[in-house]
Amino acid sequence: MAHAPVFVQGPVLGIETSCDETATAVVDDGRVLTSRVASQVPLHRRFGGVVPEIASRNHLLTILPTVQAALEDVGLAPADLAGVAVTNRPGLIGALLVGVQTARTLALSFDLPVVGVDHIAAHCWASKLRPAQQREPSGPALPFLALAVSGGHSSLLRFDGPESVQVLGQTLDDAAGEALDKFGKLLGLPYPAGPAIDRIAREGDPERFSFPRGMSGRDDLAMSFSGLKTAGRQRIEALRAEGHTLDGALMADLCASYQAAAVAQLVETARRAARQSGLREVVMAGGVAANSLLRARMQAMCAWEGLTLHAVALPWCMDNAAMVAGLGGAMLAARGGDDVHTLDAAPSRRPPPPGRGRGAAQ
Ligand code: KG4
Ligand code: ZN
Repeated sequence: MAHAPVFVQGPVLGIETSCDETATAVVDDGRVLTSRVASQVPLHRRFGGVVPEIASRNHLLTILPTVQAALEDVGLAPADLAGVAVTNRPGLIGALLVGVQTARTLALSFDLPVVGVDHIAAHCWASKLRPAQQREPSGPALPFLALAVSGGHSSLLRFDGPESVQVLGQTLDDAAGEALDKFGKLLGLPYPAGPAIDRIAREGDPERFSFPRGMSGRDDLAMSFSGLKTAGRQRIEALRAEGHTLDGALMADLCASYQAAAVAQLVETARRAARQSGLREVVMAGGVAANSLLRARMQAMCAWEGLTLHAVALPWCMDNAAMVAGLGGAMLAARGGDDVHTLDAAPSRRPPPPGRGRGAAQ
């Protein structure tokens, strides 16, 4: 039987298991009381990418100790929580289900409201998180424009509220993070290669090699990274065929040139989105938002255009559960929780249809 929604405020437990991080956090009205990330990256590294089956098995092993650790950090029992927020889309379905079933079980056992959160929206809402000791709220005012760039997504979104999100434009093929990771893999860098490319590129010449900067001549907000990826692969193959060893200055120049092309496309599309939408508050979020060149170029673009940039703080760029608890807390305060009996996971951004809740909590 469906219950009337209860609008809650207070400490919210966040749970994130959509990909290869098992993460939990407790957030109270945007203040991050604790954030724990148990990374599986070392387990997937030898495969050069995330293996879904390994991910879900390890979420199962890690989720309860990670929930317990977060609660111990803040000295709360589950019954003291105002609610539970869980990423329920998009992501690897088996991985998502571990988090969703854990959240539903906690909600049923301790009579807590539970809410399913969109992972990409949570990345963007992380711009409103602040350290526990900071009392005053911070972050963008609504409405805001968000550049969401991660391993699986590159989008420009308009936010009018925690759940009022419109896609203004997105990549037609690969995500920016994926393009960086695949290029890095060809160069022999460990997965995920984005952070290593960022570091190595600092020593390199971004003008040594010319790489495509997306689709020229368009005035919409679509992006494309597959041309860049192909050009990167061809350049590496050509250099190897010429007998070059890809290390030292050559490696640095390759990374710098490739990264510069990816960043230029992101920044120019964000500039166009701001001009077309008239939005003045700009958020950059997701794992790739940790990139130092992208942060600098977005800052310069926003200063030039008279926009206010809210770059998500580095600890909350990569996958984490503080962002999930932050957005979930805003949703719980605005409209209460979801039906614990039917809350489900979905691989895509579209919310799953109600009434299909799986597993023991039905
Ligand atoms: O948001 P995230 O942790 O997971 C997804 O939702 O996909 O993003 C992971 C992505 C990976 O592609 C990783 O290479 C990239 O973020 N990344 C970076 C940097 N740090 C992480 N890319 C470029 N520069 C960085 N400093
Ligand atoms: Zn993510």
